[in-house]
Amino acid sequence: MRPELRSPPTRLAAASRVADLIAVSTRPVIQLAKIHKVYRTGEVDVHAVRGVSLDILPGEFVAIMGSSGSGKSTLMNMIGCLDRPSEGNYLLDGIDVSTLDRDARAKIRNDKIGFVFQGFNLLSRTSALENVEMPMLYNHARVSAVEQRERARKSLELVGLADRSDHKPNQLSGGQQQRVAIARALVNQPSLLLADEPTGNLDSQTSIEIMGVFQKLNAAGITIVMVTHELDVARYTKRTVILRDGKILTDETVKDRLNAEGELKKLRQAQEAVKLA
Ligand SMILES: Nc1ncnc2c1ncn2[C@@H]1O[C@H](COP(=O)(O)OP(=O)(O)O)[C@@H](O)[C@H]1O
Ligand SMILES: [Mg+2]
Repeated sequence: MRPELRSPPTRLAAASRVADLIAVSTRPVIQLAKIHKVYRTGEVDVHAVRGVSLDILPGEFVAIMGSSGSGKSTLMNMIGCLDRPSEGNYLLDGIDVSTLDRDARAKIRNDKIGFVFQGFNLLSRTSALENVEMPMLYNHARVSAVEQRERARKSLELVGLADRSDHKPNQLSGGQQQRVAIARALVNQPSLLLADEPTGNLDSQTSIEIMGVFQKLNAAGITIVMVTHELDVARYTKRTVILRDGKILTDETVKDRLNAEGELKKLRQAQEAVKLA
């Protein structure tokens, strides 16, 4: 049938399906609106996060930086649904998670978020492969034992450790252990990978290696948010959010950063030209 003869409702339905698809693919994974966190400890209240609004889109790779006590971990705990805000709204994948109770948050965490920690947190008497399988034991979508093994193998392959699946953590280097932890974080196919100082226990060469793994995963479409205090590490990301006193001080994408560097270069050239004249 010629397109112009197609009935309007069909065309409308098709258009609305396309609109839905576009809406889903551009909808932020994380939408924080005016988030506050106040810790009430005895006499004093600590206002750790003070009105943070932040959208993170699918496919972004974001570093959260800031000095000690600036609220990085508090913010990450809320993003990771480990804790909830005192005030403000948080939509994760379009779902309002700011008011969920502990059990509901645990379920969302297991379904949607992969965590990587500074200290790897692997089970020591357990092989790399079994460590990676672990989150699937709590998965709500039932997965057969055969498929669990297959998915764990694929996950280890993604981080370049297929040939170490039978090794125990103490038979692996620090960088390899962190790779296992990353594979474990990926095995439930999360919408979001969160990492708090993932290179904090690694030497600089190994840190670069691990950042290479994160970059590769991000290039494959995985959204990553990472806390780090190391500028060298933050350089591997595409966007840097700096916190100070619980607020966002700056929020720069690589493009801004390159533009800023470009502007600086032009300015220097202009200054040189003036000197030469
Ligand atoms: N569980 C808690 N109870 C009370 N105060 C806390 C708690 N966690 C963090 N804080 C306080 O909140 C502020 C921000 O801490 P945090 O988020 O850990 O900062 P960062 O990770 O940037 O070092 C600090 O003043 C810290 O002392
Ligand atoms: Mg911290």
